[in-house]
Amino acid sequence: MKQKLEEIRASAMRELAEATGPQALETLRVKYLGKKGEVTAILKQMGKLTPEERPVIGELANKVRTFIEEDLTKRAAELKAEATKKRLELERIDVTLPGTHRELGVPHPLSIVLDEIKEIFVGMGFDIVEGPEVEYDYYNFEALNIPKDHPARDTQDTFYINDNIVLRTQTSPVQIRVMEKQQPPIRVISPGRVYRSDAVDATHSPLFHQIEGLVVDKGVTFADLKGTLETFVKRLYGEDSVVRFRPHHFPFTEPSAEVDVQCFNCHGEGCRLCKGEGWIEILGCGMVHPKVLSNCGIDPEVYSGFALGMGLERVVMRRYNIDDLRLFYENDVRFLKQF
Ligand code: DAH
Repeated sequence: MKQKLEEIRASAMRELAEATGPQALETLRVKYLGKKGEVTAILKQMGKLTPEERPVIGELANKVRTFIEEDLTKRAAELKAEATKKRLELERIDVTLPGTHRELGVPHPLSIVLDEIKEIFVGMGFDIVEGPEVEYDYYNFEALNIPKDHPARDTQDTFYINDNIVLRTQTSPVQIRVMEKQQPPIRVISPGRVYRSDAVDATHSPLFHQIEGLVVDKGVTFADLKGTLETFVKRLYGEDSVVRFRPHHFPFTEPSAEVDVQCFNCHGEGCRLCKGEGWIEILGCGMVHPKVLSNCGIDPEVYSGFALGMGLERVVMRRYNIDDLRLFYENDVRFLKQF
């Protein structure tokens, strides 16, 4: 029995050294120390021993048991340390390596200024509305008092989808859509893309942006138009800006005007920026034509209104002294990062 215990101790030691994980350790614990384990089996046979042998074998069996228990604990700790070491190796990161650099985008100059313009008009009580870019001929022209033979319909300017449908050449059709749906009081601006069949150069692009404005209510006069636009220009270009209204013609307004801002570069002297004029044209406007109102079911005897349309690119070019329209669409980050 003594020899048997020595053998158990030796084989337990060997097998424990070879165990590779907690599962294997548990199997060994059961094999040696479990209820049906080898050491337990010896202890169960103690009854067969002589009284002299019993304490000797008993002591030895207990020693072997304690020895295996300690060995189990030791091996478990070893395995755990090994696993931790392996994981640390595996998950090691070199903190001296350069990180992944992600470029942060910036708002496009057109968006920066458009946001400002929206904010100014919203501050004056305007709502922001949108309309379709693929538009019926009726909304883009007819309802705006631009009949079939009007030069603005020249096929050279307009992209026709078919006889009735065009890519809108202006944001003015949104006026019609708003007035058809809503009775006065109306106070809206409508920014968006417009299209004209122009060749690309420093001042032309087949796609550009306009911002339309429309106010209709009882008793709206040209004085309201002037006041609104003066406020707008001063907020956009500074309190000391000077505004000028020049008579003009648009089919959908009567009377009509173009608005110039005194060149903020030369203060009216004439320079490269204003092409020697001293003034810079920024928008078209006028009192909504009675025919346009009645086209939309609004009684021109009761209501009056004003409208305006401005080209966003122009406003932005003047704001940042940009001399080539193409820069807006080329997405060259060296350009875009400057704003
Ligand atoms: N739609 C005109 C254009 O593209 C701009 C314009 C002028 C809009 C006068 C208006 C307006 O609403 O009243 O040239």
